[in-house]
Amino acid sequence: MKITSQEFRKAFIDFYVSKGHALIPSASLIPENDPTVLFTTAGMHPLVPYLQGEPHPLGKRLCSVQKCVRTGDIDEVGDKSHCTFFEMLGNWSLGDYGKKEAIAFSYEFLTKVLKLDQNKLAFTVFEGDENAPRDDEAIAYWQSHGIRRDQIFTLPRKNNWWGPAGLTGPCGTDTEMFIVGDQDKCCEECDPSCDCGKYLEIWNEVFMQYDKQTDGTFIPLKQKNVDGGMGFERTLAILNGYDSVYDTDLFRPAIELIESLANVKYGDNEETDKAIRIVADHIRTATFIMGDQKGVLPSNVDQGYVVRRLIRRATRYARTLGFEGEKLVELATLYIEEYKEIYPELLENKEKVETELLKEIEKFQKTLVQGLNELEKVLKFVKDGVLNGKTAFRLYDTFGFPIEMTIELAKEKGFSVDMEGYKAAEEKHKAQSKAGAEQKFAGGLADHQVETTNLHTAAHLMLAALRKLFGDDTNQRGSNITAERLRFDFNCDHKMTDEELKFVEDYVNEAIDSKVDVVMEEMPIEKAREIGATGIFNNKYGDVVKVYTIGDYSKEICGGPHAKNTGDLGHFEIIKEQSSASGVRRIKAVLKG
Ligand code: SER
Repeated sequence: MKITSQEFRKAFIDFYVSKGHALIPSASLIPENDPTVLFTTAGMHPLVPYLQGEPHPLGKRLCSVQKCVRTGDIDEVGDKSHCTFFEMLGNWSLGDYGKKEAIAFSYEFLTKVLKLDQNKLAFTVFEGDENAPRDDEAIAYWQSHGIRRDQIFTLPRKNNWWGPAGLTGPCGTDTEMFIVGDQDKCCEECDPSCDCGKYLEIWNEVFMQYDKQTDGTFIPLKQKNVDGGMGFERTLAILNGYDSVYDTDLFRPAIELIESLANVKYGDNEETDKAIRIVADHIRTATFIMGDQKGVLPSNVDQGYVVRRLIRRATRYARTLGFEGEKLVELATLYIEEYKEIYPELLENKEKVETELLKEIEKFQKTLVQGLNELEKVLKFVKDGVLNGKTAFRLYDTFGFPIEMTIELAKEKGFSVDMEGYKAAEEKHKAQSKAGAEQKFAGGLADHQVETTNLHTAAHLMLAALRKLFGDDTNQRGSNITAERLRFDFNCDHKMTDEELKFVEDYVNEAIDSKVDVVMEEMPIEKAREIGATGIFNNKYGDVVKVYTIGDYSKEICGGPHAKNTGDLGHFEIIKEQSSASGVRRIKAVLKG
């Protein structure tokens, strides 16, 4: 069938809205309340608190088109299927309908809306193990719609158990849906877990019935949820009969622009095609991260480092295609045009995206050629096939080559990189620049870092006060700190009274007057939970977290940085308390002298 990206998004949303689901806007790509993961990786990610039982303001049936970024496979990008940015079409029942309706909805959408031949579909369900029985219900529900038993496969946990997203939290068995593609590709005894290309996965409905505990056991969730997710790009390609997401209308205009910039033809040569796909993917992702509602610019840390890597890698590939990196700004502009209706934040941030992208490219272009020459030169002297770590670090420090790029370049020439040596050189450099920064600080040359750091520490104290006041299910819903003030959103069902505001101010000022040290410890997430640190525990991707303890006043998981002692903070004052969203209040506060 032929279906455009616009039509497909609309068909999905219209369908679920017609079934009583409220459309929720895409959350930011930068996760709220989750310092251990850099990006939103699935449609359900922003919904974890609601999957755990907190009521959602828009009800129990939701659907969305969510922006997602997964960077785990960044080096695979260049082939026909990998993307670092993708959209996920999602549908949820928060303790509302169950398996039967979820399957009925999926069946109806696939066969009536998308008009797929039901004989060309295949399904998988959980085969059962010591934690949960075989999902005979799901088999029966599919069969009730006329699906033959031989179209339904039972597979182990590896295939038909989803989540939790991190170490603990909502998870359960799932049923996955496939389009049966090219029969010729099939290896005889194949099932949908085989990647021969016969079965093309399009959709996953997870039946979230369990809450995985820190000790590895599964207890029933407070409410049973359905969490459906469909990879947009991939399914769009499959529906249109393309064997690559890069053939869809989401990428065609971008590829045509690259063709004209580079004066090459997509499809002519595998090497060129790979470079085109890398450029198309990376600039799309960088545009979305920089143009996000919580946009992040290129830097050397966290999300900023990912943006930097994407832009620099795209710049290098633009060069192999024979055009200057600066031209990539045109590509960002094209993506903003393409997506501006669905993600209006891109248009709002257009100027920032274009300016900052250009800046980053220009910075890198200046050193790119020199760096490449340097690498060429040093590789000539490498005897054992391993580029030493010190040189790799110099390429980063002097020429701005992200280490991953050096590894990639070295690999292309048959070399590897001594990563231990690289890390040692990096540590040494960090220690030296830390000493430098401290000196600068002592000399009174510090920038606004001190103000924002102090406000950040005050925000921790404030959250602790709010939890004392309103209970432990009070959580941060957002935060924004400038050198002048802090802005902090949290769940609360009423306008705060003057007494309540005074309680918060007094609590924070008492902590400040007590001049207590702010102590940071790194520990496994389980330990952080045990010692009662605040933070969202059920959606963790990393296993070691930083816990900041402020005397008996606050204990919170956080990436930092923080003031060394509360005595450095000054006087805390709330200047405004207002509504931010339904069930969410916002406080603005300052620290005075
Ligand atoms: N959470 C599931 C997934 O990411 C379904 O939405 O596939």
